[in-house]
Amino acid sequence: MTKAITARAHTNIALIKYWGKLDADLIIPQNSSLSLTLAPFYTDTTVQFLPELTHDQIKIDGQLLSTAAGQRVHTFLDLVRQRAGLTAFAQVDSTNHVPTAAGLASSASGFAALAAAASKAAGLELSLPELSRLARRGSGSATRSIYGGFVEWQKGHDDLDSQAVPFQEKIDFDIQMIAILLDPRPKKVASRAGMAQVVATSPYYAAWPPTAEQDLIAMKAAILKKDLNLIGQLAEANAMKMHATTLSANPPFTYFEPETLTAIELVQNLRNNGVSCYYTMDAGPNVKVICSAKETPAILARLQQHFPADHLLVAKPGPGVTYI
Ligand code: ADP
Ligand code: DP6
Ligand code: CO
Repeated sequence: MTKAITARAHTNIALIKYWGKLDADLIIPQNSSLSLTLAPFYTDTTVQFLPELTHDQIKIDGQLLSTAAGQRVHTFLDLVRQRAGLTAFAQVDSTNHVPTAAGLASSASGFAALAAAASKAAGLELSLPELSRLARRGSGSATRSIYGGFVEWQKGHDDLDSQAVPFQEKIDFDIQMIAILLDPRPKKVASRAGMAQVVATSPYYAAWPPTAEQDLIAMKAAILKKDLNLIGQLAEANAMKMHATTLSANPPFTYFEPETLTAIELVQNLRNNGVSCYYTMDAGPNVKVICSAKETPAILARLQQHFPADHLLVAKPGPGVTYI
């Protein structure tokens, strides 16, 4: 029996998106990406390896997962066992303080917390870069959730160099996000399936990796300049380029819902009225508004004319993974 270990990891939202894999097993991405880790959204995961168990027992938000639903976590635990030279199955108890599979990056906080808790419970003492590479095997976006603030995932070439690097852990200018929770239900097309379909069938996909790499260079310069408007413009354009690849896939699909367009229009109207705010969107219909804390009250007041106040979640930059 090993000790029970609990880890906390926060979600992150990409300003320059990871979209498409070169290697689906190792999760080596087609392009590097850059994200902001968020304070209020996180996952707490406890792992304990117990010799008396006959299979992995995986609970997320109090629900015991069936073998099929738990397969992804089980495969990840096999990787940890293999590295640690361990055979015992594990008890995993995880709580998402973020909607699951709704495009708010539960897979990022979920697998970063699991990587930290499972590796330590298995007796591995991993460095942060090692932890980032391990988390990558669970979900690409989890690579970045090991660190706080602005984080770059350098795509690398193989298992040993595809990892996150903190770009700016302590952010000394005014930037945050407002998540508009317009639909908390699990998405119809998971990130994994969506990007695979796009890579395999969209004639526009070939344009994505080079344009994302260019956006990343511009984004890093904008962050160093603390230029919120430029950060917002680049993030918005990058996100829409990503979403253009879903409409051009075969069969075509989209993560947009009618309310997504309403949210985007509200952000554009605010901007036309002199308020600095920009939108980004992941593999799900929920919109995240990039803005300053200073202008957040004015933005919330406008958004509340259309969305319930408790569906507007203000998120400041958050920290990297911790043990609790
Ligand atoms: P999201 O936008 O929430 O990241 P994804 O489609 O990328 O959506 O990933 C959702 C999947 O992530 C879930 O179906 C589940 O397999 C996994 N996941 C979510 N939360 C956890 C967790 N706490 N621990 C382990 N895996 C998780
Ligand atoms: C649109 O990391 O959820 O949110 O690696 O298959 O688990 P898997 O996918 P995931 O994809 C995230 C895609 C995105 C962009 C991003 O977070 O960079
Ligand atoms: Co995800």
